[in-house]
Amino acid sequence: MKTAIHAVQPELQILLDRQQIADRVAQMGAEISRDYSGQSVLLIGVLKGAAIFLADLARSISADATFDFIAVSSYGKGQKTSGAVKVIKDADTPIGGRNVILVEDILDTGLTLLFLRKLLEQHDPKSLRIATCLDKPARRLEQIEADYVGFRIPNHFVVGYGMDYGERYRNLPDICILPPEAP
Ligand code: IMP
Ligand code: MG
Repeated sequence: MKTAIHAVQPELQILLDRQQIADRVAQMGAEISRDYSGQSVLLIGVLKGAAIFLADLARSISADATFDFIAVSSYGKGQKTSGAVKVIKDADTPIGGRNVILVEDILDTGLTLLFLRKLLEQHDPKSLRIATCLDKPARRLEQIEADYVGFRIPNHFVVGYGMDYGERYRNLPDICILPPEAP
């Protein structure tokens, strides 16, 4: 079993290591470059989790690309899912008439991306797609799928590569499984 080095939690089991992630993100970038060849694309990353994935994805896209970020908070996650999502920081870039790709770390219940997709659609983008680093289809509550999926994973709680548990572990270069008994 490969484990990650982390000062606080030294024995996290690696689900996807940095090389597997880099290879897959490069493939996703190539696919996006083909799909938007000769066009420009605006990537909108969902803070904070998608920041690192967006940074890598953007650099593997050869089509004309710009990026921006949006931040949301959701309530009732985990126990009773209220589905209420609030925008904390909106994107600054006008998206009307643009080819937009929403970039997310994990598609889990689908509540966040459904909310964001509806929100962005109100601004009449030319096209709107979703790219997610991870997809946990087992936990889906809303009918929503991503157009570009890095990895489909079973129902583990994962951290690293931007993803957190109480804001920690985002800086791990590998995607690791957080044991249920984690502090
Ligand atoms: P949902 O699809 O609305 O349920 O929410 C997706 C968001 O929940 C993601 O953007 C993450 O911020 C968070 N999330 C879901 N599963 C995990 C996980 O395994 N690790 C860390 N964050 C997660
Ligand atoms: Mg997130």
